[in-house]
Amino acid sequence: MSKKTTEPSTGVSAEQVLARLEAKLEKERKSAKSQAFSNAVRLAEGLAVNDIPALLEIVRLGHPTLRDIAQDVPSGVLGTPTFRSFAGSLLNTMFDSDGVGLASPQVAEGLRCFAYYVPSWDEGEDYVVPPTVLVNPVLHLEDEIADDWEGCLSIPEMRGRVPRAHKIHVEALDVDGNPLSFEATGFHARVIQHEFDHLEGIIFLDRMTSMASLCFEPEWMRYILRNQELTE
Ligand code: NI
Repeated sequence: MSKKTTEPSTGVSAEQVLARLEAKLEKERKSAKSQAFSNAVRLAEGLAVNDIPALLEIVRLGHPTLRDIAQDVPSGVLGTPTFRSFAGSLLNTMFDSDGVGLASPQVAEGLRCFAYYVPSWDEGEDYVVPPTVLVNPVLHLEDEIADDWEGCLSIPEMRGRVPRAHKIHVEALDVDGNPLSFEATGFHARVIQHEFDHLEGIIFLDRMTSMASLCFEPEWMRYILRNQELTE
């Protein structure tokens, strides 16, 4: 089992982070596009968002925040209305873009938190893992590796095969600062590792051991997904 740790980050105070987040949310709330509201956000466990979450701009590969190491969310930020609103906006933006995960650096905020969920492919069931926001996470990776397809909202329209630990142990905080500790396997573990990488300035292309599988999404659906469905 290997452990991922990060350097303690310093420098920016809770007040500075809160002022920055509030300015960002205020700007987005004023724009017409922020009126969208995903019902799924209401379902997010332990996240009672009172106001309409903003729809944030997702930055793409080339934006410097995607290559920076994100800063720990300061304890003074946890549980504040501004941070809860930001977390709700991350979830809202993720759903609006049909993603299953969205990390704070992807909305140009270098904070160690991300939104994700695991959808269910069974009819009548919305998800396997409900919409969740993890804060200041630490991952412990087990040795067994699995290879599967990934994409990223900051690298639109592309898919590639990425090796990831099949099973991980996660320690993190929720938006209010309560400690969380759980195990994740398979796709759940994959999503968390992908989002965690964003906090380290790492993208899925960096994790690919060969570029041979890299493809555009329409071609992936046409030549790979269809073949997979036919053989299953
Ligand atoms: Ni991504």
